[in-house]
Amino acid sequence: MNSIIAEIESILKQAFAESGYDESYGKVTISNRPDLCEYQCNGALAAAKRYHKAPFMIADDVLAKIQDNAAFSKVEVVKPGFINMNLSGVYLAEYLIRMAEADRFGAADLGQGKTIVIDYGGPNVAKPLHIGHLRPAIIGESIKRIKRFCGYNMIGDVHLGDWGYQMGLILESLKEQFPNLFEAETLEELGIDVSLLEKVYPEASARAKKEPEFAEKAHMATFKLQKKEEPYYSVWKKIIEISVRDLTGNYKKLDVSFELWNGESDAQDYIPPMVEDLKAKGLAYLSDGALVVDVKEETDKKEIPPCLIVKSDGAYLYATTDLATLVQREQDYHPEQVIYVVDKRQEMHFTQVFRTAKKAGIVPDSTQLTFVGFGTMNGKDGKPFKTRDGGVMRLEKLIGDTTNSIYERLTGVEFPEEEKRDIASKVALAAIKYGDLSNQASKDYIFDIDRFCEFEGNTGPYILYTMVRIKSILRKCGLADRVEEHGFKMNAAASDSEKALQLELTAFHDMMVQACQENAPHKVCQYLYEVSNAFNSFYHHNNILKEEDEQKKQGYLALIILTYRILKQGIELLGFDCPERM
Ligand code: ARG
Repeated sequence: MNSIIAEIESILKQAFAESGYDESYGKVTISNRPDLCEYQCNGALAAAKRYHKAPFMIADDVLAKIQDNAAFSKVEVVKPGFINMNLSGVYLAEYLIRMAEADRFGAADLGQGKTIVIDYGGPNVAKPLHIGHLRPAIIGESIKRIKRFCGYNMIGDVHLGDWGYQMGLILESLKEQFPNLFEAETLEELGIDVSLLEKVYPEASARAKKEPEFAEKAHMATFKLQKKEEPYYSVWKKIIEISVRDLTGNYKKLDVSFELWNGESDAQDYIPPMVEDLKAKGLAYLSDGALVVDVKEETDKKEIPPCLIVKSDGAYLYATTDLATLVQREQDYHPEQVIYVVDKRQEMHFTQVFRTAKKAGIVPDSTQLTFVGFGTMNGKDGKPFKTRDGGVMRLEKLIGDTTNSIYERLTGVEFPEEEKRDIASKVALAAIKYGDLSNQASKDYIFDIDRFCEFEGNTGPYILYTMVRIKSILRKCGLADRVEEHGFKMNAAASDSEKALQLELTAFHDMMVQACQENAPHKVCQYLYEVSNAFNSFYHHNNILKEEDEQKKQGYLALIILTYRILKQGIELLGFDCPERM
């Protein structure tokens, strides 16, 4: 179905046309003066020049055509030529009934099944998943859900950092620590688990910087691995297995999941033919012994250096792997778009990769390559977030601590222990995710977990609290399990707060289009916050349960049920869930 603005706009367009003006002047927006009206059309002001007429005369012509339209309770022309409109209660209620009955509330099918690959997460094998990995996981997951809701076939790829020198460092270290590494059936029998692996990497990396001999050995191990030489390759596979198992568990706690668990290693076979092709096309050339592709463009405002494909020592680079991954993605999925949710400091890298890919025809011209760069998560001191002792915080610990702190706040009502735990973990996830997603992704933000956990204000727990409040009303009416199949009829609003809530719900369609097209979960957050505020104001102004007029009461229930369903859909798009009570 069309958004409510599109519907009003079509009425206005017709009125402009019937009055002899171009219909394009019938553009409608939500009023920027809600004290005066709900919607406005400023087209008469723009049309005045073209038709050499005073704006209010044009507006008056249009007014004559729409005055009696049943969609409006009030239309008026305000000097110099604004057309102000309020919707009629019946029209609004009917619109909401259509919304409630439609599949996905009648949201636009923007994707029509087209495929998008979204690359997010990007953890590195054998390095701990820490708080810095929160953003790509949370933002990527939400963009994926939003786009899927809007009709795209979404393929999320975790794109593991599982190749290169870091793996050589780990292999060489383990070989030293465990002389029978290559003979062992499993790594577990040697006592190698994920926490050991996570210790090995930073130690080895520090050591290699001091001991050239060790660094040399690690490079050799990397070299052997990259040729898939045994037993290096088999041991590497076992390391990946342990690491992936741990990562899967961690992402599960965040309610983040991937369709593909590919890694940098999966792209390696595509590299040699791709390099040959870049040479054959005359794009790649030698510069100081390295193979590079020029990517600068005339319109560039800053210097874009050439994309490095092969180093002078023959090693491949980060860009090489990303290009080869695009070759693979194009071959496997022929996607309409590839989205990368990565730290914004990597923007230059992606500019180089995207340009090379387009120049070389690795993806067709029509494929959109999109970089969604996210900002840094800072502590309250404005510096990158650190734990109290100055280290990076593990994701598991962050989730655990937050859950405990919410648990402590669940006072007042006596819940059974198991339920209390469940509530705490759901609310904690909402606090963490909403705290992040409510900021525009590209901005740095202050990770203030105390504020995120508050039950009031623009927070995840506040949204959940609102939903739980609705659930409790429904429970008292014996409707808790029948949110979808009640059969009540929405009423024409009888009060301002009721109408305000109804109008807020209709904004869903336009909000979804924007969130989808702009890869902007923060728009969903903002919307849920406004819906929650509108609901809470409605709730305070009307006594839903004690309403004696049965028809009125059923109208209220229809309204709060739709409110609940939309909030529920919204938090699902953000990637968290709501408890029954809290
Ligand atoms: N593993 C990388 C890192 O830690 C992020 C990967 C992002 N995705 C990509 N296709 N390069 O920086």
